[in-house]
Amino acid sequence: MKVNSKKTIVSISLFLFCLAINCQDLNHSFKPGQIWPDNEGRHINAHGGGIIFYNDTYYWFGEYRLPRSEKDRSRYGVSCYSSKDLLNWKNEGLALKIINDTASLLGPGCITERPKVIFNKKTGKFVMWFHHELKGQGYKAALTGVAVSDNITGPYRYIRSLRPNACVWPLNFPEEYKKAKIKDGDLKSWSEEWKVAVREGLFVRRDFEGGQMARDMTIFVDKDGKAYHVHSAEENMTLHFSELTDDYLDFTGRYIRVLPGESNEAPAIFYSKGKYFMFTSGTTGWKPNPGRLAVASKIFGDWKPVDNPCRGTEDENKICFGSQSTQILPVNGKKNAFIYMGDRWTPDNLADSRHIWLPLEWEKGMPIIKWYPNWNLNKLK
Ligand code: GAL
Repeated sequence: MKVNSKKTIVSISLFLFCLAINCQDLNHSFKPGQIWPDNEGRHINAHGGGIIFYNDTYYWFGEYRLPRSEKDRSRYGVSCYSSKDLLNWKNEGLALKIINDTASLLGPGCITERPKVIFNKKTGKFVMWFHHELKGQGYKAALTGVAVSDNITGPYRYIRSLRPNACVWPLNFPEEYKKAKIKDGDLKSWSEEWKVAVREGLFVRRDFEGGQMARDMTIFVDKDGKAYHVHSAEENMTLHFSELTDDYLDFTGRYIRVLPGESNEAPAIFYSKGKYFMFTSGTTGWKPNPGRLAVASKIFGDWKPVDNPCRGTEDENKICFGSQSTQILPVNGKKNAFIYMGDRWTPDNLADSRHIWLPLEWEKGMPIIKWYPNWNLNKLK
């Protein structure tokens, strides 16, 4: 009887201790493709996201997708989570909310995707850029939106949405492309002549006055503090790299075309050992396709595609382990350590889309990814 009551006391104390520090609910490893519970036990609802490290904390911004149970349509926008260890995330709520005003471009029914937040040292402000589509127009508008905040977790104040670089030519656009007479509609889509015309700037000319299309996007801040808005333009056929102004709130008008006519989206850029690397995907909507990698020695340099970075079975490589890139995250406190972050979309229930995080490994100087069902940061040297 005495032994039993001792045991009971020990069990109860252990239970209370666990309750106090929530130890039962802690995540101890990355489990790509599985439900990833936040501090409230709900799957992390931050898709197509991006993370910044600030004041010893990681902040994860992503698409808040309405869970099926959620009836309040105005609860939509960009979510934010914070973490010290990259495994356990606290829900910080919506950083950018849809504006409850049908006259606003950010009004109910619009789409906000792939949000990325950067910190501007000069102004002390946090700047959020995101792919923005308008109510009832599908993906036709192809805008990029910008919002700003004094606090990292928000609320972010929406400034505007635009198609960048109106009335300016890309820096790497030859004179003869500017003068070419072929127009959109002159050639049959996807014919060989059409593909050549696209590579030679058909859509750049078409969109010259109204600004260039901006769909899937990311933001990259270079070593010198200059920021670049990288997005799928030209009907998703070509990536544009556009320099942002010093306050990160606008475009300078300096931009280049990258991999013209090669249909890249989901760009994710990082710098390591003197080289710039970019993961992308092809353009098959929510369906995954083979992973892609490109490399350059300068951000406004000559980007060259290299082999598929996935090292799995043939089937896994064809779909990048069932994921689409969103960011390559530098891990604080480790040299040259990065995490591949991707999305495994569930189109009919986007809130349930899974996070595919994998350790970045190296092979002959090139980044590669392998599948690990269960891993932790010790994997990164
Ligand atoms: C994907 C894109 C996603 C989303 C989706 C819509 O290609 O990467 O961010 O826009 O298309 O179909």
